Amino acid sequence: MKTPKNVFVCSACGYQTIKWLGRCPDCGAWNTMEETVPEVQAPAARTAVKSGNAPVRLDKYEMPEYMRFATGYRELDRVLGGGLVNGSVVLICGEPGIGKSTLLMQISNSLGKERKVLYVSGEESCGQLKLRAGRLSVSSENLYLLTETNMEAVLAQCDALKPDILIVDSVQTMYSDRFTSVPGSITQVREAALACITKAKNEGISVLLVGHVNKEGGISGPKVLEHMVDAVLYFEGERRQSYRIIRAMKNRFGSTDEIGVFEMTDGGLAEVENPSETLISDRPKNVSGNCAVCVMEGTRPLIAEIQALVTPTSFAVPRRTVGGMDYNRACLVIAVLEKRLGLKFYQNDIYLNVTGGLRLDDPSADLGIALALISGITDKILPDGLVAFGEIGLAGECRAVSHSDQRIKEAARLGFSHIVLPKKNEKKTLTKTGAALCGVSAVYDTLRFLRGKDTADESGN
Ligand code: TYD
Ligand code: MG
Repeated sequence: MKTPKNVFVCSACGYQTIKWLGRCPDCGAWNTMEETVPEVQAPAARTAVKSGNAPVRLDKYEMPEYMRFATGYRELDRVLGGGLVNGSVVLICGEPGIGKSTLLMQISNSLGKERKVLYVSGEESCGQLKLRAGRLSVSSENLYLLTETNMEAVLAQCDALKPDILIVDSVQTMYSDRFTSVPGSITQVREAALACITKAKNEGISVLLVGHVNKEGGISGPKVLEHMVDAVLYFEGERRQSYRIIRAMKNRFGSTDEIGVFEMTDGGLAEVENPSETLISDRPKNVSGNCAVCVMEGTRPLIAEIQALVTPTSFAVPRRTVGGMDYNRACLVIAVLEKRLGLKFYQNDIYLNVTGGLRLDDPSADLGIALALISGITDKILPDGLVAFGEIGLAGECRAVSHSDQRIKEAARLGFSHIVLPKKNEKKTLTKTGAALCGVSAVYDTLRFLRGKDTADESGN
């Protein structure tokens, strides 16, 4: 048999070529081509689904029982679609130091109450793990620690111990003797993940894999990892701030809209069950450029605060610094306000931010962004009890959004007195709360909510 030639694989996207290239033609990354030995095994033996299956009629097929078990953290269960499914493989990604190992250690404790958990670490020694466990008050009798980086050894230990849950921290540190490439390379990462997936599917073990992210925020190593696993969760948040948000990017067993909110404390990660309350707890009062918004994160309404700082520019091209929302969306709102209200943003630098490290992708934040910007440039403040939601169109019109009643209830629950919403939503609202509904049909209408600084105290709160 001819010995197969080595191939070059892009470590960022998995693109293959027989020649070395400085730049990957597929993803455009520089210096990512790594020489690897092509796999010599027959591919059929290495797939997660057993081969030789006969076709079955859908109505005759008996569903296997997908059991879900609670991880002990409702915020995480919701993101997973109602708990961890047995036999599923979940990849948890995040920047270094964000709290992946901490979260896994904490859920090992709660899962370990009824099930056997094997925690494999390729990054820390047993001593370090024990130290962290002590700090997190983890004391499960069913939690087994293993420091190992060889995948065959991990699988052998797994066969001997027969755990219900296998945690691999991290998949980038694992390697197999069958391949010559270094740990963390595309072949090794893919093989380690595949070995775990095969184990999960054949034996019904739930596997949690930790994945590192690269500088651009993608999973380092092959992109193929995302296709192979059942769910991909991203752990996000500002390292220096204490809030952590867990978000599903892919989930074969649930929706990808949900988020879970945690706070990093001295005793590990604590669930934040009422994120809105926490996010707006230290809002500054009587300051221009601030506006509360109500957005939907999956099935849950969330109140966040948008801050806009508008200052005269000293640059030829004014600065636009946007955090926590889509840059282009913010530019669109700025352009609409310039055109429809004649506000001179082109003479100003704009710094826009969402407090609490949250990222808003819901277009219903538009109206809040607009209000914060108008308030910022005119230096007139909005009433403290005002919250806004609604989408803005290019003509400056305010468009209706979904889940209006849920948003109104959440805003009223948190004590907001004035809810600015699209006129169409106002007409359809059935909910009766103590808060006043202020329907607007265009951005122009919002100007009536602005008050001068001196009249702030009698501003209708
Ligand atoms: P870690 O879980 O090690 O991060 P990752 O595995 O994602 O790299 O978390 C590390 C950070 O969390 C570290 O900077 C310290 C902080 N931390 C706390 O603030 N409180 C705690 O109880 C623990 C265990 C960690
Ligand atoms: Mg870690």
